[in-house]
Amino acid sequence: MGLFRIKDNGGGVEIEKIFNSDKFDTVDAEEWNEDSLERLQEPSWEKRYEYEANMINGIINNRLVNDGFEIKSVLELGSGPGNLSQKILEKYPNLDYHLVDKPLAKKYFDENKFKGKFFVKDLSMDFNTEGLLDKYDLVITNDFLEHVFNPSIIVQKIYELTHKNSIYFISNPNWRMGHQFIYRGLFDFDNFQYFLYVHKFQMFGMMGSPLKTPAYPRIDSEKMLPDEALREWNHYMAFKHREIQNEK
Ligand SMILES: C[S@@+](CC[C@H](N)C(=O)[O-])C[C@H]1O[C@@H](n2cnc3c(N)ncnc32)[C@H](O)[C@@H]1O
Repeated sequence: MGLFRIKDNGGGVEIEKIFNSDKFDTVDAEEWNEDSLERLQEPSWEKRYEYEANMINGIINNRLVNDGFEIKSVLELGSGPGNLSQKILEKYPNLDYHLVDKPLAKKYFDENKFKGKFFVKDLSMDFNTEGLLDKYDLVITNDFLEHVFNPSIIVQKIYELTHKNSIYFISNPNWRMGHQFIYRGLFDFDNFQYFLYVHKFQMFGMMGSPLKTPAYPRIDSEKMLPDEALREWNHYMAFKHREIQNEK
């Protein structure tokens, strides 16, 4: 059984199978095998990583120019083989860049002699931070949190791994594009803001996506979602530590 999306192809209705929903991909040890690696060669993916890298490079630059804070360390969770990281490192080669994902993603990373340090960890239910730095200036989860069984523990650990000047960059797929979610409602825009807020993160910036989803109406848990973001393929958001009284 897969999940299906109904598409209007102009001359009638077409049903497209989006993904196999028989299994949770977070426990799939074969993720990033030869078949799934093929997508990395597609020009659309290359363009997407370029777009995202430009956005993140802009954040790094703004932090320095506007706040005088130099981002020196980056942690990317659920990075895949590391294509986004390489584009960020092209612009900022001195970053101490750490990536975490599954064994086959690391295999591709190693074979391509990518820059950075890759850690294989199973993040499906917990996040063992052994071997990582105490703190990172920038943490990235790009289309990752929606895959794991325990996003709360991941975000709690990210809070511990960041400091008051750190930025936490998150990309969430818009449910309208038919991505796999374990807890879809959690990623509806308002619910997600609340979820991050109770984990002591607050959004301070949101960036647009050039790709558009099929049109579906706004739902009740998207009251805070800006009109222009309703059909954006991804929601790109920058979070900072929320001020907590008496915090050291
Ligand atoms: C939708 S992909 C996003 C990959 C990459 N960030 C990108 O934007 O192309 C989700 C990523 O999360 C990783 N992932 C999912 N479950 C995981 C787990 N239990 N442990 C480590 N990584 C996991 C997958 O291997 C995959 O690389």
